[in-house]
Amino acid sequence: MAVVRCAIDLGIPDILENQDGRPMSLSDLSSNIGCSPSTLHRIMRFLVNRRIFHHHEKSTIDQKSTSSNSNGYVKTALSSLLTKNGDKSMAAFVVLHTSPSMLAPWLGLSKRVLTDCKSHAFEAANGKDIWSYAEANSEHNKLLNDAMACDSRLVVPAVIDGCSELFLGLESVVDVGGGNGTTMRLLVEAFPWIRGIVFDLPHVIAHAKEEYHVGLDYIAGDMFHAIPKADSVFIKWVLHDWGDEECIKILKNCKDAIPKDKGKVIIVEAVISEEDERKSESFEYVKLMLDMVMMAETETGKQRTSKEWEHVLDQAGFSHHTFHSIQAVQSVIVAYP
Ligand SMILES: C[S@@+](CC[C@H](N)C(=O)[O-])C[C@H]1O[C@@H](n2cnc3c(N)ncnc32)[C@H](O)[C@@H]1O
Repeated sequence: MAVVRCAIDLGIPDILENQDGRPMSLSDLSSNIGCSPSTLHRIMRFLVNRRIFHHHEKSTIDQKSTSSNSNGYVKTALSSLLTKNGDKSMAAFVVLHTSPSMLAPWLGLSKRVLTDCKSHAFEAANGKDIWSYAEANSEHNKLLNDAMACDSRLVVPAVIDGCSELFLGLESVVDVGGGNGTTMRLLVEAFPWIRGIVFDLPHVIAHAKEEYHVGLDYIAGDMFHAIPKADSVFIKWVLHDWGDEECIKILKNCKDAIPKDKGKVIIVEAVISEEDERKSESFEYVKLMLDMVMMAETETGKQRTSKEWEHVLDQAGFSHHTFHSIQAVQSVIVAYP
């Protein structure tokens, strides 16, 4: 992660993206960045090995031809995701997770195990829980919201492609823990008949309003107290931040926010495979890694198996629910009152 972060800081994904697939030599790349070729070579050798970049070797055919193809570094599909401003850029996600406040809690994992999760790694490292820390540090708040928006740009199109029928006939949707509004913007672009409400903590809504998207409503509040009323609740990557007790409380408030007869709660979260299915599931590594992220960064959060999801949904009083796979790490779980 740190070496990928180094490449982002140096702007290497952007430089190679602008080459339109033409290889760039080490010497051109180092003069573009303004650094020594020998150190850069070691960084690039590692990142080529990890397939973040590709190194084009001039082939025998190329050497005989007059073609301008030469040895050098070329972008890959992965490096395109690391450009600073691309449509699908994940750079902010890497920058957040390589920031000192997000890295420090990882060193508290052993204590967390020894105290059965009663010591809180993020709070021990940073003096506050993750949400209060963001409230007190506006730069970190922006970084966190921008990083979450990276995931939304990847996952929300997968929700739209895989589950568009869920949004037919909905007049209003409230995105609970909706961050900077990217998710709701994408949903309203795809389903323009929906009135989109972005609901989050006051400091997040204050930041979201700076990036104001025309047509969205922004409401500040606390999901543990009440959630604004709408035809449907959308809630992505929020419930995994919380233990069962808090999760049930949030889900009950989601249920209270929607009509009893036709309302639904659309949950977008990873579903960890049961033991016997684990080997065949291609995103399993990412899901299990996200569970470790929850252990390091939150007090009670965790990724859940389908049985664990069923438990919290039943306890919150939903009558039934369905699971839908989409082309993403997350699945869509729809809960009905
Ligand atoms: C992991 S982020 C996910 C953001 C967004 N849903 C996404 O997937 O990109 C969790 C969000 O929950 C919000 N949140 C945390 N506690 C909250 C509370 N008590 N009430 C409302 N939102 C809260 C955070 O501010 C943050 O935006």
